[in-house]
Amino acid sequence: MEREINGKILTIPEHIAIIMDGNGRWAKKRLMPRSYGHVQGSKVVEKIIRSAGELGVKYLTVYAFSTENWKRPEEEVNTLMKLLNNYLEDCIKKCNKNNMRVKVIGEIHRLSPELQKKIIELEEASKQNDGIQFTMALNYGSRDEMVRAMRKMTSDVKAGTLKEEDISEETFERYLDTAGMPDPDLMIRTSGEERLSNFMMWQLAYTEFYFTDVLWPDFNKAELIKAIEYFNGRDRRFGAV
Ligand code: FPP
Repeated sequence: MEREINGKILTIPEHIAIIMDGNGRWAKKRLMPRSYGHVQGSKVVEKIIRSAGELGVKYLTVYAFSTENWKRPEEEVNTLMKLLNNYLEDCIKKCNKNNMRVKVIGEIHRLSPELQKKIIELEEASKQNDGIQFTMALNYGSRDEMVRAMRKMTSDVKAGTLKEEDISEETFERYLDTAGMPDPDLMIRTSGEERLSNFMMWQLAYTEFYFTDVLWPDFNKAELIKAIEYFNGRDRRFGAV
């Protein structure tokens, strides 16, 4: 899809994935606890979903909590869980009004029963909406996702519902948490780090990467447009490497 933005015709990526990094440093700069950075960061998530929707993005996927994040101090993990809980609650109320479909990827069974219940409720309540699809990666790790996919495939082969000779890239994709979603066209990582950190490694194989020094709590619509402008400057040779 093409849109005129600031006098320029830009191709809008259908799917944008974001590694929201820098909440801790943002708070530290203000002599505040890391958790304060996450609180601000969660407010930015809401704004960016709205901005992405306005720009015509169809899928927005964010790395909200990784399989590694459990190693952080208990207080910080608790704050993140509380923020996610509040966000899910709020979303159950607002998703239909905003015509937003919400999906969670990751191993959700390690999350609290309360959170799991809300995730299921939210996915169910929003599944018929055809506006932007907002996907949250929660207790997500790409290696874990691929191992879970392989386990499911193996058990289907054993059960006789999948033939070994039918295993292809397409089959594998159907076993990933992202089954049915297009691969991201653009991946944004904030705060100057240039790593994938176990995020959607299969799905990002051909994605354009945009790195910015802006810390996540400072990210806004203008920064999102900069990332889309960068995407437009890339020579995307479909079918080539
Ligand atoms: C990275 O910053 C950010 C995270 C580990 C969590 C991201 C979570 C949120 C933005 C809030 C909740 C999300 C939703 C969907 C409501 P960091 O702590 O690693 O920052 P640092 O690198 O500066 O320490």
